[in-house]
Amino acid sequence: MKRLALLNGPNLDRLGKREPEIYGHTTLAELETQLREAFADAAEIDCFQSNHEGALVDKISALAAAEIDGLVINAAALTHTSVALRDALLGSQLRAVEVHISNIYRREEFRHKSLTGPACEGVITGLGLEGYYAAIRYLLKA
Ligand code: DQA
Repeated sequence: MKRLALLNGPNLDRLGKREPEIYGHTTLAELETQLREAFADAAEIDCFQSNHEGALVDKISALAAAEIDGLVINAAALTHTSVALRDALLGSQLRAVEVHISNIYRREEFRHKSLTGPACEGVITGLGLEGYYAAIRYLLKA
């Protein structure tokens, strides 16, 4: 059984209610349950969401210490601003895949730059919630 983690950043606690035309109607709790069920045979998934940059940095540090097998991260708005999260990912030595529900390259220009993406093995953007499944599938296979 692999040990994976799913990290979601600011405002993703409001998934399902927040701008549903962009992010859909599924809540974060529903997504987490569905992912855990879908991969129950292959992985234990530690799910964590925070609206706070430091809490996410602390979590990455704890996951690095625990030497988990991989991390799926949607850092949300912090993707575009956070040197601290980028450094946390780079310093963690964890395998990571970045996911965005929306296609950040089809949106405002300030979303086109990801500071955290280069610290990850890959980035999946614009495939909706399917991106989380694809990221987990990749981490389990590779
Ligand atoms: C997002 C895209 C970000 O630009 C935005 O700030 C989010 C969500 C996405 O999943 O599409 O909060 O990461």
